[in-house]
Amino acid sequence: MKDILLVVTGSIAAYKACEFTRLLIKEGFNVHVAMTEAATKFVGEVTFRTLSRNPVYIDQFAQPLDWRPEHVALAELCETAIVLPASADFIAKMAYGLADDGPSSVMLAHRGRKIVAPAMNDGMWEAPATKENIQKLQGRGVEVVYPTEGELACGKAGLGRLAPLEDILKIVKGK
Ligand SMILES: Cc1cc2nc3c(=O)[nH]c(=O)nc-3n(C[C@H](O)[C@H](O)[C@H](O)COP(=O)(O)O)c2cc1C
Repeated sequence: MKDILLVVTGSIAAYKACEFTRLLIKEGFNVHVAMTEAATKFVGEVTFRTLSRNPVYIDQFAQPLDWRPEHVALAELCETAIVLPASADFIAKMAYGLADDGPSSVMLAHRGRKIVAPAMNDGMWEAPATKENIQKLQGRGVEVVYPTEGELACGKAGLGRLAPLEDILKIVKGK
């Protein structure tokens, strides 16, 4: 079974990561979920623990499963890491190499394949800062699954909707 890291961040689209966990499991992956504190405001840890059948990594100072810091263990265990949904804030943190919580620490320590699936309001997506951050990540070989146009959580239509899960799954399986 292939281990995969699924990082869930603080976007309203976090609920879609529940279904994505299920799809990954159906494809035979062993899914390890890491959630930011903001993500836990949108979806409960217990949902991911139950769906993934693995402990969920949130707090980097919590007691690790063994003596090794969990962010290092997870980074080394999972060849592929996908951030879904990726918030504007988390993308910025990745672009700048910040590691101030469990999920950002594991992403910085991770040496393998990285996929980012952004989801946000169109203003956030089109902001010059976000565009620069996305370019920075792509320049380092991070695969970005572009958001699509459609109805946004803010109540209007625009560019920023999480790409369809089936399309993201194809990209994950593509290599
Ligand atoms: C109701 C609500 C919905 C939000 N949806 C999004 C979103 O879809 N995308 C995004 O980038 N930020 C969104 N935010 C803002 C983020 O949650 C906020 O920037 C947070 O600090 C991100 O933390 P993270 O780095 O842990 O993801 C939303 C905030 C609220 C209150």
